[in-house]
Amino acid sequence: MSSKTILTGIRANNKLHLGNYLGAILPMVKTQNQLQGSDKFYFFVPDLHSFTTPIDHSQLYSLTLENVQNYLAAGFDYTKSNSIMYRQSHVPAHSELTWILSCFTYFGEMGRMIQFKEKSAGKNETVSIGLFTYPILMAADILLYNGEYVPIGDDQKQHLEIARDIAIRFNHKFNQEIFSLPKPLKEQTQFFNLNESIRIRSLQNPESKMSKSIEDPKGTILLKDEPKVAAKKVMSAVTDTVGAINWDWQNQPGITNLLQILGLLSDISAEQIKTTWTGKTSYGELKKEVATAVENFLIQFQAKFNTFTPQIAEQILIEGEKIANEIANKKLREVQKAVGLVR
Ligand code: ADP
Ligand code: TRP
Repeated sequence: MSSKTILTGIRANNKLHLGNYLGAILPMVKTQNQLQGSDKFYFFVPDLHSFTTPIDHSQLYSLTLENVQNYLAAGFDYTKSNSIMYRQSHVPAHSELTWILSCFTYFGEMGRMIQFKEKSAGKNETVSIGLFTYPILMAADILLYNGEYVPIGDDQKQHLEIARDIAIRFNHKFNQEIFSLPKPLKEQTQFFNLNESIRIRSLQNPESKMSKSIEDPKGTILLKDEPKVAAKKVMSAVTDTVGAINWDWQNQPGITNLLQILGLLSDISAEQIKTTWTGKTSYGELKKEVATAVENFLIQFQAKFNTFTPQIAEQILIEGEKIANEIANKKLREVQKAVGLVR
């Protein structure tokens, strides 16, 4: 059986929340626990992506290490063979490949990216070029390592698709299989054993996703929240007036969000959650169960987090970067050859 490459990253521009954990961290860690042998697991911190929108730069370095601590706390096993952790900025091939790929990516394609449209809306004069070309750096992140399976939340699906398109175009143009293609989205969700990609909603505004880029403290559960405070946020989550529990994103996004959180935290399938809760009428009972699950999860997660110091995280990165540079430089060299920069 051929080995698989699973790769992902989360920007370090703010404190991570439950959406990041359930959408991106948990699928990676669960997969790592299930697969073995020659499969490869690459977790990196896209620190260069962290300031495509303005941030407090004095915090970036420590947030990067914290990002790694979060993965370790979630159970990412960096000691497993073929598992590495590294920083995007410490592997210069990411930046060089981005430049090359950007010459084979069309302006119109980038302009169609939903995240760019959303984050740049009404700010034409102050929006950075980095935000516009963000998906090309993301494509480089994936393609340098032949990334096939990329656990990401729902909002990043379009970026993954464009990475695939760029790879197909590049291979075709140079008539070589330089890049392995990331798997199509459907295969991705199946691989991570999900019916749909995950999109945890804000507890206060369940029409929108829980996000660290939006100021919404009551709607967002941070991984660093005091567990009791987080439980209270769940208890005051916005629901609806239907009066019965249904898994229905269209008409009951608040309730469905709670059901999804409960299922993922307790490792119960959506189907089982639906069987247990559909038709019940006590929103209070559901909230209480979710609040307890969130509180218990945070207690054990934070205890684990504290066992990994920033120094440990930094050391793991330094080791990982040695290997990541070798892998990435090899791929970059193939690309440089194809475009005629070296022989
Ligand atoms: P944010 O919107 O909070 O700034 P990022 O864009 O940094 O989040 O996303 C980091 C990772 O976490 C991505 O893979 C993203 O898809 C995932 N993610 C972010 N928010 C959610 C969410 N609410 N539900 C599921 N996954 C999410
Ligand atoms: N864009 C992702 C996010 O918003 C982070 C990211 C950058 C990423 N490069 C990646 C995720 C490559 C997976 C693969 O969090």
